Amino acid sequence: MRQLRTAVIGLGRVGWQFHVPQVIKHEGFSLVAVVDPLDERLAEAQATFGPGLQEPLRTYRDHLTMLGETRPDLVVICSPTRFHAEQALAAFAHGCDVFCDKPMAPTLAEADTMIVAARDAGRKLMVYQPHRAMVEVVALQDILRRGILGPVYMMKRARSAFTRRNDWQALRKYGGGMLNNYGAHFIDQLLYLAGSRAKRVSCALRTIASLGDADDVVKAVIETENDIILDLDINMAAAVPLTPWVILGRCGSATLDEGANAWRVRYFCPTDLADISLDESLAAPGRKYTSGETIPWREESFPLANYAPVDFYAKVYEYYALDRAPYVPIAESREVMRVLDACRQDAEG
Ligand SMILES: NC(=O)c1ccc[n+]([C@@H]2O[C@H](COP(=O)([O-])OP(=O)(O)OC[C@H]3O[C@@H](n4cnc5c(N)ncnc54)[C@H](O)[C@@H]3O)[C@@H](O)[C@H]2O)c1
Repeated sequence: MRQLRTAVIGLGRVGWQFHVPQVIKHEGFSLVAVVDPLDERLAEAQATFGPGLQEPLRTYRDHLTMLGETRPDLVVICSPTRFHAEQALAAFAHGCDVFCDKPMAPTLAEADTMIVAARDAGRKLMVYQPHRAMVEVVALQDILRRGILGPVYMMKRARSAFTRRNDWQALRKYGGGMLNNYGAHFIDQLLYLAGSRAKRVSCALRTIASLGDADDVVKAVIETENDIILDLDINMAAAVPLTPWVILGRCGSATLDEGANAWRVRYFCPTDLADISLDESLAAPGRKYTSGETIPWREESFPLANYAPVDFYAKVYEYYALDRAPYVPIAESREVMRVLDACRQDAEG
């Protein structure tokens, strides 16, 4: 099996808890270097992962020294967002491929510098967008494939909590804010499910419970080129939970029942409906304003236990080591960045 000599930049929450363990676990990757400005995190990495590695683990306070001395095949960037572009460009200049955590960068313009640099250097670039790989998305794709909802016209997605955020992600100057943070996840997830680019974007941003100046309440409405309305709420100042998922189609709706860990679908078969026609008279018969019909609803439950999430690092290996198509094409990550920029512009304008 081809082994990718891999360096991880940033040993914070996602670097330490997700990327490093995944790199260690998959036999197609060998961890050769880690980068973090904090000495105690480097020492912790050496003590935890150093023993047993094929090649001695090298630890660095800065990415440039690491790139010059180690020249890995693959650089995994999970430092704070403001460093992503600078570190990716340096990696490409040293002949490395890059797997970057989301959001790609604080702005579309910076993301574009990464895409251009990867292309010019002939290197690969993919963004970690884990929410498209979640089991609830895999199950929903199966429901959509069955066609029981009819053509989908709206997807409503909400993430809510009450959090007085006080870390770097609470600050705009560091690329923080919930639009950048969760927005990058959910916009990718919704566009992926819709299978389309965005046509029109509107957005309102507020800072309510956060201690910083970055947004913690996001209300975005995105209309896709294939005419689906994506309605996104990210609300970190909500004392009651918002409904996380509602999918609306012409023949039915689906919602995720988190208690039962299952999608619940209510729908009708078009052939079961009575044959009624439009009445254009200006006096509704019997003074009634509905057709009076009873919809023959059908109900089905789709337990998530019947599905498996996508193994993201298996996809990472397939792309970087086996030259398969990228699981997250860079054009789709750019579209997420374009929509994030459009959300910011609409909210400010
Ligand atoms: N995909 C996901 O599910 C997910 C989850 C959380 C965070 N993220 C993203 O991952 C990135 C890191 O977020 P986090 O929550 O792990 O942050 P964090 O604050 O927990 O950790 C950041 C780490 O980077 C280190 N660091 C700071 N400056 C650095 C530099 N110049 N070079 C290298 N390392 C540096 C810090 O010392 C720290 O160890 C962000 O872009 C964030 O949006 C993604």
